[in-house]
Amino acid sequence: MLLAIETSCDETSVAVLDGRSICSNVLLSQIRHHQRYGGVVPELASRLHAECIDGLIHDALQDAGVGLQDLTHIAVTVGPGLEGALLVGITAANTLAACLGIPVVPVNHLHGHVYAVEQECPLTFPCLICLASGGHTMIIHMPAPLTFDLVANTMDDACGECFDKVARMLGLGYPGGPAIETLAKSGTANIAFPHPIKHQANAFSFSGLKTAVMTTINQDQHAHEDIAASVQHRIATVLSHKLSLAMASHPVDHVVLCGGVFANAAIRAHICDELDGHSVHIPPIKLCTDNAAMIGLAANHCIEQGLVRNDYLHCHPQLGLNRPEYL
Ligand code: KG4
Ligand code: ZN
Repeated sequence: MLLAIETSCDETSVAVLDGRSICSNVLLSQIRHHQRYGGVVPELASRLHAECIDGLIHDALQDAGVGLQDLTHIAVTVGPGLEGALLVGITAANTLAACLGIPVVPVNHLHGHVYAVEQECPLTFPCLICLASGGHTMIIHMPAPLTFDLVANTMDDACGECFDKVARMLGLGYPGGPAIETLAKSGTANIAFPHPIKHQANAFSFSGLKTAVMTTINQDQHAHEDIAASVQHRIATVLSHKLSLAMASHPVDHVVLCGGVFANAAIRAHICDELDGHSVHIPPIKLCTDNAAMIGLAANHCIEQGLVRNDYLHCHPQLGLNRPEYL
């Protein structure tokens, strides 16, 4: 039985897992505290995590119907993320593990997003992953468990960041993705926004799209609903086109879509249509955005490979995709 902790950004979350089975997954979002600032304020995030982490650990154990004595491992996100925010979760994990005399499992947040899909069934290899979140936009080739080869990465903004910035330009709240998805439902994708670096297989770029949206808003000739629908459509086509380029160089049967942006139903549907004939795996919506259950699902594989520690873990705010950085 494993307890997992996630505090890398603005959600405090604790989960209890028994293998791939999620016994509890409690989450407290800080969004309403950050909304008035238009984005996440790191210092505020750390303080809010510290205030509620003990209570959430208690709730997660209670929801799962287990006690501390039932735990065999404590898993925690060690990076990438906000340093002060990560430290709260890591300190809680180090302390619990030391008191209980059990190992800690350092988990890379990006691996958590990928393994979120295992709530339904184990990954099949080789597979291609499209990870689109607030901080990352990547296509990854996975030939084996915990083996990540980066195929494409963003040159500038992340995909979720593009949603958040466009939403701010349109006067919508933070986070922008859900707000744009809602507005887009009453609009038509009738504006042909640019498709930057369309033929480059190893890179994404979203900053030009953001500028084009700004120019369109300033021209004041289009309804905001149509702008929202058009930018959402363009992001869906950028992701699906880049995936098709990756599939040409890395032929696979299985494709995984993960990260907060894939909470978007229109984007999920568009890519599933485009990849007709392939097995497309997407975590349920509540496991697309940040949560501790996905950290526990990734931790299962770290445990399987002996990637656990009996001493204190450290914080790795800039952690990359590959795990040797924290071993
Ligand atoms: O994966 P995530 O929860 O956190 C990071 O690791 O960054 O992703 C958050 C990002 C935000 O940029 C948010 O605007 C975006 O995911 N997002 C969405 C939707 N829900 C969240 N983007 C598009 N449509 C959504 N429904
Ligand atoms: Zn995330």
